[in-house]
Amino acid sequence: MKLLVTGGAGFIGSAFIRLALQSPEDLTLGNIDALTYAGNLENLASVSADPRYTFFKADIADAAAVEAVVASFQPEAIVHFAAESHVDRSIHSPEPVIRTNFNGTFTLLEAARRHKTPRFVHVSTDEVYGSIDEPHEADEHYPLRASSPYSASKAGSDLLALSYFTTYKMNVSVTRASNNYGPYQFPEKLIPLMIANALDGKHLPVYGDGMQIRDWLYVDDHCRAIRAVLDSGRAGEVYNIGGSRALPNIEVVQRILAATGQPESLIQYVTDRPGHDRRYAITSDKIERETGWKPQVEFEAGLSETVGWYRGNAGWIANVRSGAYREFYDKNYGGR
Ligand code: NAD
Ligand code: DAU
Repeated sequence: MKLLVTGGAGFIGSAFIRLALQSPEDLTLGNIDALTYAGNLENLASVSADPRYTFFKADIADAAAVEAVVASFQPEAIVHFAAESHVDRSIHSPEPVIRTNFNGTFTLLEAARRHKTPRFVHVSTDEVYGSIDEPHEADEHYPLRASSPYSASKAGSDLLALSYFTTYKMNVSVTRASNNYGPYQFPEKLIPLMIANALDGKHLPVYGDGMQIRDWLYVDDHCRAIRAVLDSGRAGEVYNIGGSRALPNIEVVQRILAATGQPESLIQYVTDRPGHDRRYAITSDKIERETGWKPQVEFEAGLSETVGWYRGNAGWIANVRSGAYREFYDKNYGGR
């Protein structure tokens, strides 16, 4: 199998690559990544010397660069992770989000069409369904009601990817996962930000009343689901991937404080995120029924593993919390 991954230096893409190369399977794996603030080759240190692995530094929205990689590598499958993935950044600056998430997906689909790439998996998100009232859960036919520029760009790119199945008969599937957590996640997202702040004894900024609900999925479970869709998902189909662990944000934060031995007085309620979705909820019945996949990692075990990883990797945290990170932090949290 000759597999081209995009965004493999990020959180989920790097976990996917590490897992894929752990198996002795006959695999040639290429990784296209522009190394934005979220891309970090340290995440791939354990596989960078593997002769089955090749890194291509390229921007997926640059058609000539993508054409050069796809023409030379000739993948049998593309698994497309690369994205601007943070909702708050998309609210401050939507332009890079649209450029990468929508135009970048278009550029990749066009390269795959020209080169007749046999399989394309577009990695998307449950955020495309928007906020869902109790007691409902979205299946794959639920209406798309994206709230932020990030989720709108993902909804648009999902429709574009599916249109390449309908129009050009390309073998495209779309996955929509819930909130991921685990090692190597950039500390702008809820869980790693709260762990990093708690370990430093800093305030933990909770948006609004903290009663928003997210469904937590351990990153390796997500990667195993993507692999199942790559191998046996049907063309033109969407697959939801949930963690089956819905929790209010404040409870996640309290668990992190308990795991790091810090007091609840570190919690600071701050002004809510504009357009904040109250609740995400999806059903994963389809992927479970069709591929046999199920999440394996319980939230308690996954969170404890994750806290342990951040505790043991202070150098990694320090490297990613650069000047640019401080700038983003001040912009996002300074006025709240
Ligand atoms: P991330 O921000 O950690 O990593 C994104 C990667 O994409 C980085 O390595 C970055 O350098 C690269 N990238 C960004 N713009 C690029 C461009 N123009 N060209 C090439 N590379 C570029 O993101 P993540 O959390 O690992 O998310 C990966 C995918 O999974 C995204 O498509 C996201 O929408 C989706 N997703 C994420 C979650 C989650 O909870 N994090 C949940 C469901 C779906
Ligand atoms: O649902 C899948 C999505 O999950 C992915 O598509 C996105 O890429 C990923 O970023 C994530 O989006 P969220 O907006 O749900 O994740 P985030 O970690 O930014 O926030 C999770 C919840 O925590 C949300 O309700 C906002 C809240 N929050 C977040 C931060 C960063 C806070 O209360 N304080 C914070 O400082």
